[in-house]
This record gives sequence, structure tokens and C-alpha cells, in this order.
Amino acid sequence: MSVPRAFAQELDRDGILVLTLDVPGEKLNVLGRAILAELEALLSEIEARVDVRGVVLRSGKADNFIAGADIKDFVRIRSALEGETLSRAAQALLDRLERLGLPVVAAIHGACLGGGLELALACRYRIASDDPKTALGLPEVTLGLVPGAGGTQRLPRLVGLAKSLDVILTGRRLSARRALALGLVDDVVPGVVLDGAARRAALALADGGLVPRRRGISLLERLLRPLIFRKARASVLAKSGGHYPAPLSAIEAVREGTARPLAEGLAIEARRFGEVAVSPVSRALVSVFFATQEIKKDVGIPEGTAAREVRKLAVVGAGLMGAGIAAAAAEAGVLVRLKDASSPALAKGLRYARGVFDERRRRGSLTAREVGRRMDRMAPTLDDTGLRRADLVIEAVFEDLELKRRVLAAAEAAIGDDCVFASNTSSLPIGEIGRDARRKTRVLGMHFFSPVHRMPLLEVIVTNDTDAWATATAVAFGRRLGKHVIVVRDGPGFYTTRALFPYLNEATRLVEEGAAVEAVDRAMTAFGFPVGPLALIDEVGIDVGSKISKVLHHSFGDRMEPPESLARVVEDGRQGRKNGRGFYVYGGKGKKRVDPSIYGLVPGGPERRAYEERVLQDRCVFALLNEAVLCLQEGILRSPRDGDVGMVFGLGFPPFLGGPFRYLDHLGARFATEVLERLAAAHGPRFAPAPMLVEMAKSGKTFHQEAPRG
Ligand code: COA
Repeated sequence: MSVPRAFAQELDRDGILVLTLDVPGEKLNVLGRAILAELEALLSEIEARVDVRGVVLRSGKADNFIAGADIKDFVRIRSALEGETLSRAAQALLDRLERLGLPVVAAIHGACLGGGLELALACRYRIASDDPKTALGLPEVTLGLVPGAGGTQRLPRLVGLAKSLDVILTGRRLSARRALALGLVDDVVPGVVLDGAARRAALALADGGLVPRRRGISLLERLLRPLIFRKARASVLAKSGGHYPAPLSAIEAVREGTARPLAEGLAIEARRFGEVAVSPVSRALVSVFFATQEIKKDVGIPEGTAAREVRKLAVVGAGLMGAGIAAAAAEAGVLVRLKDASSPALAKGLRYARGVFDERRRRGSLTAREVGRRMDRMAPTLDDTGLRRADLVIEAVFEDLELKRRVLAAAEAAIGDDCVFASNTSSLPIGEIGRDARRKTRVLGMHFFSPVHRMPLLEVIVTNDTDAWATATAVAFGRRLGKHVIVVRDGPGFYTTRALFPYLNEATRLVEEGAAVEAVDRAMTAFGFPVGPLALIDEVGIDVGSKISKVLHHSFGDRMEPPESLARVVEDGRQGRKNGRGFYVYGGKGKKRVDPSIYGLVPGGPERRAYEERVLQDRCVFALLNEAVLCLQEGILRSPRDGDVGMVFGLGFPPFLGGPFRYLDHLGARFATEVLERLAAAHGPRFAPAPMLVEMAKSGKTFHQEAPRG
């Protein structure tokens, strides 16, 4: 029996060979080893043919050109040398394609990423469809890798140094128009005429009637080389604090490679690829990628459960969260009723939503008309107009149990029987909010993160009463808004808030004990968090944080006891960024500096003690890790994978560590237990290691099966 082939060939009357890549049985074209072998055989065949004048390379998938090299192949790389060899093989193949002696035109529609773009770069000419699904980019650095099939060498030689560094170092995905402006593609046409245009281009190239324009590296860029690379390095270090080796490696590959002939540049790239492919950072980032893919398929809802399609959404509460949710839904094409008790509140909410869209308009990703269309999807209301027809109601009123109960009761009186009711809360147990609900089976929690349009996580919270279809509805809706969705069981603080607070408490306690605010925050950003814990408390709002911390203290006892000084900070009228006073004071343009008067509210006064960074990090991070394990042990979390995704995308836990559970696997349960025991002896039983962790330390098991032991 013959193996199904990925490439189909068709020779047209003009001698243009159209190669259609359609990897059998897969939704997307991904360049696995078998496909590359097939391409190699195909090139030998074409090299021997005399009837072919040009080649068009297109995809047979509906909306995908090539999604890249197969990421699963990267995980199997065991040594730097093996990685380098793999890269060399891919480069050799693309070299052959480039030297085919015939014009090859890539007809690009849909995602053309990573190895897919590198393949296109080895073609003589690139035409892209102007479809919104068309996206070109080199996302390798986001996986801790450097492009390894010529991307770091061919791209700068095509579009210049600065532009190529931007594409390579950000991993950003470019629309066809942007790619054209950059010189990355030669032409952009409507999708329906793409194939014809590609064929004509191949013919014109063969006839010599079409000569592609190449910008290449300009004279000016050659003169400014040292400056360009210095700036690129500085910008990477400023953004990532040096935690990510791949972008720095990519800069070196471009720097060294473009100073030499292509062949030597490719050898340099392959070596760099091999080095980073086996780095723990790449392993962690790839694991996060796979985790996000897995949660698209499995969040524990029984198979076959049908979600209700949300055509109409009602949002109760037009504050920052409510308006943010409404805007995100309008963006996704959903009709939204936005309800609040007063007209000024509604007007403010709509202004906020417009601000979100206007920002995108200013950046050129939306037209004024598109902004208008989104705004038209949102209808404000002061009463229950429109609630009866809603498929989903999300309340986002103030974090107050009684208020939320009242909103739920009022909504239940207005909505249809099959409408799902969700509370957007960051700490109040859903079971408590829904205690008196008439239809408990339709009640759940949807914990969005602020700002809603930027934060990629949605934590869906289910009680024992919640129906699976209601959960499926919330999950499908969250995915439609483009969020990574995890489903957790109900409990105070659910997962993300619950694991966050011991960390925040510890940071405040350190200030109480004598550490400087900036020292604590700096230690945690050095660890890899995007902002320090005290700056985060200011962002969340000290009043809000203090309220949540009381809820958690009440539920979990001493372990979650807030530091004494927190109450004094609240009494002092400090609310954080929103009233300009917190641990920091806030000036114009988001500038902040530590407020020295904060030390008047804690013991020790302005004299701060010096702490070793490691000490500060251990106290905060281990408090968080331990609580995450308790959430898993108690079944709040379904899996370590969900715990990793939730913490990375909800709270900015360093992605290069892969999430708390992957990090614990890296450290080893025994080591983590010992650290916690040491902390417990020095600072109190709140650090007592979670029994599950102790058990794992004994058995030698890991949270993720494939993880190496520390
Ligand atoms: N390697 C291996 N598998 C890949 C892949 C890759 N480069 N790109 C996508 N896939 C897989 C997904 O894991 C998923 O597998 P599953 O069906 O077993 O879950 C499947 O292809 C479909 O992907 P999905 O993300 O659901 O499709 P989409 O249409 O929503 O998005 C992309 C398509 C291409 C935009 C998206 O898959 C993507 O961004 N992929 C990563 C691309 C990348 O980083 N490439 C560079 C590699 S160096």
C-alpha cells in the first residue's frame, strides 16, 4: 500500500508546476520529518525534469499555508549537536530549493510561520492573499528558539537589519499588507486570484519579464551595524531582564552571519539553534505552548456536551471589568447589553470601551468604521431591557457578597430559563453568591483579569451544582474572546487569587519586617515577574486587596493572615494607583516612586534593612508554590497543567519557568520541601509544606510525567 503523499503536483500548459502541500489527516500543514523527506525527493525529481519552467508552491489547506516546523520534533532533540544537525538538514533542503535553477513562487494564504516562512524565504518570489487569516512571522523566540532553517540569514538579506531584527526578536505576526511594506512579500492580491497571480508571476520570472526588487541591507545599515545590534541587545535586555537566551542568540546569529557569506551564516545559525533548542527555557516555553493547545481540547467537560451559543450577552455593572468584558465581547461580534444603575456610570463604561478600540485605531489595526461597528454592538440600559433574550449574563458589580446575591436574584427574575449566569469575581465563592439561586445549575464564575482586552486568561469556576453545558457555554465564550480558559472548582479565591495572596502577604510582611519596598519588587522582577508584588497591590487597589485578603483569612485561617500593617495602610486612605497613593506615589505619565511616608506605617521607620535578593524571592515564591500545590491537592485545580497555564497567563508567573508546577519539577519536590521546612522553622507554620509535596518528595514522582527530576 502506498503512503498518502503530502505534495500533489500539476503541470499547467505553460510549464508551471503547481505543488500543493496538504499534509494528510491534519488540520494544518506542519513540516515534520516525513514531509521534509518527501520535499527532498520531489526536488530531485524536478531537478531532472526538462518540461518545467517554473514552480508554484501553494497550500491545499483551507486557511493555512504552513504553520511551521513540527514543534513536537523540537522536544525530541537531546543534545545541542543533534539540534544543530537537524537545523543543517533543513537548511540544506531549503538551499536546494533556492538553487533549483527555476523560479519558485510561494502563494501564501493563511498562517505562514516559522519554518513555513523560512521555506517561503528560500523561494524566489512571494505573493500573499490580503485575507485577515494570512499572517507571516518567525515565532521561534517565543518558544525559546532561534529560526533554524535560514530565517536569521535570508530575512535580513531580504529586508534589512533593523526590520528583520524586529520580526525575529518579537516573533510578531504580520498581516500581508505589513509584510509587503516591509519587503517580505513581493505582492499582495485578493485570495480568490492568488493562485492565478502566482502562476503568472512564475511565468514572468521564467521569461525574465519580472525581476523581484530586493531591499537588502542598505549602505546606511552597514555603516550603523554596531549601533543597530547594540540597540537590539539593549532593548531585549530591558524587556526580558536577560532571562531569555534565544533573542540574544538570534541577534548574534544575525550579527555574525550577515558579516559573512550566506553559507557561513547558515552554519552559525545552526549552531545557535542547537544551543538554545536544549535550553531549559525553551523546554519550558514549549511546554507552555503545548499546555495552551491541550486546554483548547480538554478542560474536563464530558465529551459531547453541547455549549449554548452566546449571541447575546448581558453585562451587569459598567465599571472597569464590566466595560472591559463588554468591549471584548463586542470585538468578538457578540451583541451586548450593558446595564448599570446610573447613566453616568454607563457613559463612563462606554467611554472606556471606546478607549480600548480607539487605541487600536491609533495603532492602525482598526479603522474608524470598525470602531463604530463595535460600539454599535453595545447597547446601554438602566433597566432589564434585553435581559430576557440574553444567552449569558455576566455580573461585574463591586466585590460584595450581598450585592452580588441581589444582582443574581434580580437577574434570575428577568432572564430566560436557559440563560447562564456568571459572576465575575476574583475571590468570593460562587456557591456563596448562588446560595439562594433558583437555577443553581446555571450559575458559575468567570474570573477575568484586568485589563480584560489584554490579559489572556479566563478562569471559569464551577460548583457541584453547575451543569456541564453551562460550563461548556462559559468556556466556549471565553475561547471566542481569544482567552486561554481553565476550569477550576469553587472555593475562596479559586486558584489564581488563592495562590497569589500568600505571595502578596509575604511581600507586605517583608516590608513590615524591614525590607525596602523597591528591594522586594526588584527581587521579584529579577525573578521574572512582570511587576513586583507591592506595585501589583497598588494596581489591584489596596482597599480591594485588603477585602480579598480578609475573605481568604476567614476561610483558610492563620496561613492567610494578612500582615498587621496592611490595615494601617488602608486606614491611611491609600488605595494604590487609583488614588495616586499606595506603596508608591504616582506622577504623570505612569511614573511612580516609592512613597517614603509608607515607612511611617510599619515598624522600623525609614531605616530599611538590606536583604539578599534570594531571601526575598524564596519567601514570596515558595508561599505561592506551596499554595498552588494545596489547590491541586484539594481538587480546586484539575491538573498541574491548568495550574501552570493559569499562573503564567493570569498572574505573569515567569513563562521561562513553565509555570509553578513545572518549576517545582525542575527544583525537585524534595528540594522544595526542604526549603519550605526551613522557612516554616524560621517564619512560622504558614510555610508548612503541602502534604502532596511531601508525599512526592518521598515517592520521587513529578507533577508532569515527562519532567526531569531536580
Ligand atoms: N508544530 C506542531 N503542531 C502544531 C504546530 C506546529 N508548528 N502548529 C500548530 N500545531 C497543531 C496544534 O497543536 C493543534 O494540534 P491538535 O489539533 O492536536 O490540538 C493543531 O495544529 C491545530 O492548531 P490550532 O492552534 O488549533 O489551529 P488554529 O487554526 O487555531 O491556529 C496557528 C493556527 C498556526 C495560528 C496556530 O496553530 C499557531 O500559532 N501555531 C504555532 C505556530 C508556530 O509557533 N510555529 C513556529 C514553530 S517554530
